[in-house]
Amino acid sequence: TVHHRDRSTELEGKEVSFGMSAGATIEKPDYSEAKIVVAMVGLPARGKSYLSNKLQRYLLWLEYQVKVFNVGQYRRQVYRKMAEESGRKEDQSANFFDNNNASAAKARERMASDCLEDLIKWLKAGGNVGIHDATNSTRARRKALEARIKREPGLKLLFIESVCTDPAVIAANVAVKVASGDPDYDGQDPLQAEKDFRERIKHYEESYQPLDPELDKGQTWCQMVNVGKQVTVNRIDGYLQSRIAFYLMNLHLAPRSIYFTRHGESQYNVEGKIGGDAPLSKQGEMYMRALPKLIKEKIGDKPLTVWTSTLQRTIQTASELPYEKLTWKSLDELDAGVCDGMTYEEIEKYYPEDYNARDDDKFNYRYRGGESYRDVVIRLEPVILELERQKDIVVVCHQAVLRCLYAYFHNLSQEELPYIKIPLHTVIKLTPKAYGCDEERFALPIEAVDTTRPRPTNKHLAIKKERDLGMLSPSTSRPPSRGKGLYDA
Ligand code: F6P
Repeated sequence: TVHHRDRSTELEGKEVSFGMSAGATIEKPDYSEAKIVVAMVGLPARGKSYLSNKLQRYLLWLEYQVKVFNVGQYRRQVYRKMAEESGRKEDQSANFFDNNNASAAKARERMASDCLEDLIKWLKAGGNVGIHDATNSTRARRKALEARIKREPGLKLLFIESVCTDPAVIAANVAVKVASGDPDYDGQDPLQAEKDFRERIKHYEESYQPLDPELDKGQTWCQMVNVGKQVTVNRIDGYLQSRIAFYLMNLHLAPRSIYFTRHGESQYNVEGKIGGDAPLSKQGEMYMRALPKLIKEKIGDKPLTVWTSTLQRTIQTASELPYEKLTWKSLDELDAGVCDGMTYEEIEKYYPEDYNARDDDKFNYRYRGGESYRDVVIRLEPVILELERQKDIVVVCHQAVLRCLYAYFHNLSQEELPYIKIPLHTVIKLTPKAYGCDEERFALPIEAVDTTRPRPTNKHLAIKKERDLGMLSPSTSRPPSRGKGLYDA
């Protein structure tokens, strides 16, 4: 359930349950119905691994169990082992990918199939989406995949093809592949490596059969041409598949950066209070005035969009940025429910159980009448899709919300997410790259309070244990009334 900020109207005159009781955690959503084999299709250097990893990151963020099974890694493992056993280096150069090399072709089929078997095993053991990251570039290979998966009741197959006709994008992908560090070309002369890799691509081109609306009309697939330019979908079936297709439709590869900043320091920040809709402090106003210069230095004259939440501290912070602006309710700060407007000390005093429950599991803890980090992640999904579609953009919002967005781009776990450091008066620049994001931080020299609560020590856990054992009595103090009667919930 996503809670809305305008809950006062929702609550008036109604008997309302505030979700979880203190100390309880929310059930994880049940995604066990979803079992999909995503099989990538396409020539080498068409961004298949990039798309696999991006899709994995998105679905993991939405709490599906997702794993990429990369056939290239299988090949390297198998041949490393063979080399160790035989004492001589196995040929993994372009010759290995020559269709006339019958023994190698057989070995390649075998490895793709072994990799698929592991994927199926993993799905059957509880996974939701297994991504078969291989070329799967002939119709015969795809038919074999289909036949195998048909034998597994409950598994569905979705092909995702990446067709790329832009020589600049292919060249960039080739460059990533042959850059030092790629296991296939580690330690090799880059020019030699590029020559070999391009030869390998040529071998694949000789037998490549792209997905075809007529010939492949019976299968489920999604074909992307020049990521972001054209997407064709065929026989998409069910909620998760359509979600995946919709995500892919929103992607693009144009270079761009995303600039995250919290609002300038607010009056509530100075008082140590959470939530609310306070205006900026004097220091916060200084940040508001300094921000345009910093952004201009980084962006130059490129067009830019600015997003804020609907809360005045973000709107005020962005007010002097001379760009198009959009306010999003989904970017509003995590709703602290009955604790809204309190300091952490007050929460500890008046809601000790809640305070400790939050420390025990900060991602899942839902404030009474408010939200958890998990709720915020769910309400941010449309924001993520829209962020993927955007070019250069500045997002001015809040500590908890930025943690969720940041975790998506850096693939951070639910455990790490609520403790990510997002200081005030700092712009975080993220530049999406082939794998993950580059990051730069620009801290403006304008003093601000530190609003982060560090990860707790185990002290409160000991106290909780004593309380559970009846050795301590729960706090009987009442929080100050704020007129909405919410404290009695
Ligand atoms: O203190 C500023 C603030 O944005 C609050 O409004 C919000 O409740 C809090 O940060 C979120 O941080 P945490 O989840 O660490 O309490």
